[in-house]
Amino acid sequence: MTDQETSIKSTNITAVESRVTLQDRIKRSGHTGGVLWFTGLSGSGKSTLAIELERRLFNIGYNVFVLDGDNVRHGLSSNLGFSPDDRTENIRRIGEVASLFSSAGFIVIAAFISPYQEDRDRAREASGENFHEIYVKADLSLCESRDPKGLYQKARRGEIPEFTGISAPYEAPVIPEFTVDTGELDVEKSVTALAKYVGAKFIQQQD
Ligand SMILES: Nc1ncnc2c1ncn2[C@@H]1O[C@H](COP(=O)(O)OP(=O)(O)O)[C@@H](O)[C@H]1O
Ligand SMILES: [Mg+2]
Repeated sequence: MTDQETSIKSTNITAVESRVTLQDRIKRSGHTGGVLWFTGLSGSGKSTLAIELERRLFNIGYNVFVLDGDNVRHGLSSNLGFSPDDRTENIRRIGEVASLFSSAGFIVIAAFISPYQEDRDRAREASGENFHEIYVKADLSLCESRDPKGLYQKARRGEIPEFTGISAPYEAPVIPEFTVDTGELDVEKSVTALAKYVGAKFIQQQD
């Protein structure tokens, strides 16, 4: 038995099979589903770029949807905190949700610090082949100087335990499919680079 199988608690489960195939969905939308998994430090630009990229892709006809850390923690993961185990469970849930959206033909932009490589790898496994790990890169000193939500200041004062980059680790991606360096590019140029990447990876030729 694999780890995955041993962690399934339900018995007497039979999956149903959809009569809408993935090919049907692709034919209608003109693109495949898949996951753009944004990882990076707090303040690196994940949410900013996710929202701008979603707008850009939506405007040109893509089925696209953002899953963002703070939003998910109000609902799906409202019972989880920031301990290593809770972070792992949070990412496991998002990975599964992203996989479902992807099967529905959507491009999912998942914007989560997701500090552990192992957790991101598990999200990749949940989604199968069309998973793209995108490193939203900005070093700690830059993120700290931006501090859009004042969280670094709080963390430095010891008011936020287990804050990534300060008192909790961040494992940068080993081999990301794409890196956007927000220390080098402004928002506009970052979004353009990402949109170009999506255009190259997700458009399906109609037969
Ligand atoms: N190229 C860039 N991409 C994204 N954000 C940038 C960029 N350059 C500067 N910023 C700024 O950095 C901050 C990033 O904050 P945010 O998107 O909330 O980060 P995260 O979601 O990763 O915590 C924003 O204030 C944004 O305006
Ligand atoms: Mg964010």
